[in-house]
Amino acid sequence: MQDPFKPNSKIYKILVADDNQSDAEILSQLLRDNGYECILAHNGIDALESGIRHFPDLILLDVDMPGENGYEVARQLKAHKSTRMVPIIMLTALSELGAKLEGLEAGVDDFITKPYRQVELLTRIRSLLRVKSLNDQLDDVENIVFTLARIIEAKDSYTLGHADRVSRYSVLLGKLLKRSEAELEILDKGGVLHDIGKMAIPDSILLKPGSLTREEFDIMKTHPVTGCSICERLRSAQDALPLIRHHHEKLDGSGYPDGLKRDEIPVLVRIVTISDIYDALTTRRSYKDAWTLDKTFSVMYEEVKRGWWDGDILRTWEKFVRSEDFNTMVTRKIHVKTASGH
Ligand SMILES: [Fe+2]
Repeated sequence: MQDPFKPNSKIYKILVADDNQSDAEILSQLLRDNGYECILAHNGIDALESGIRHFPDLILLDVDMPGENGYEVARQLKAHKSTRMVPIIMLTALSELGAKLEGLEAGVDDFITKPYRQVELLTRIRSLLRVKSLNDQLDDVENIVFTLARIIEAKDSYTLGHADRVSRYSVLLGKLLKRSEAELEILDKGGVLHDIGKMAIPDSILLKPGSLTREEFDIMKTHPVTGCSICERLRSAQDALPLIRHHHEKLDGSGYPDGLKRDEIPVLVRIVTISDIYDALTTRRSYKDAWTLDKTFSVMYEEVKRGWWDGDILRTWEKFVRSEDFNTMVTRKIHVKTASGH
């Protein structure tokens, strides 16, 4: 029987993780009868693997299972990039507050106490799937924006791959500077999105081979603020907004758009700025050839002396770029991959 209250005609996939085989079979039959697709896991390790491999829309998770217990499975799935938005309902024979608190701490979204009433279980499932469906739609919008960021640079064959390289360089630099995992994620997004405001810049300015007039440069300088307003409604880009808005600030306050100075410019912004300039100088552009490392760093250190960039971050980057690690980790993956675009 098809569940008439399902949010839309999509067939939702539900992972049922329960070590009690007959309980799992009864539950999965109930779900199939209501139009859901079901995947079964009978221990914690299977539940983790299936969660990551099958992209379920929702997970029903027993607490006591051999291997990893339900709390640990929930904790790991909520920490994993591809499964953290998947709602988890914990099936528990326990109704104590302590067990629920532990579940909530592990990231569980809802609880059903065994023995459950079918109608209650199906209602909770529908309600969480509705939220999941809205989140998926938001993710679609976000994917479009990230794609747009790459489309802008594809207008100009010289900048093709720039956003991905800046993202990758920023993450590498963040790792060298021992930034947290959460900060590396912000660098990853900020690197891709930093120039997205350029979509509002006319091609006559964006693709101009020679130098820009003062008026043209004033228009070009609007891209960080425009980029910020494009991304400010995106849930997942919130943390990256300062990187988009401030990647052209200089430590002496002579940058744009806000003329921030020294400590007003966060470390993550400084990292993206160094990565952005390094990539612009070491790749070919319509107005210049690709510069050598010596010329690039000599100019950048000159600008550190002028008070523009963070010398400590630049020295860390130079040391890495001139090391064997950089050649093996980055050169092969980035430069070879993007060579066809130049
Ligand atoms: Fe920019």
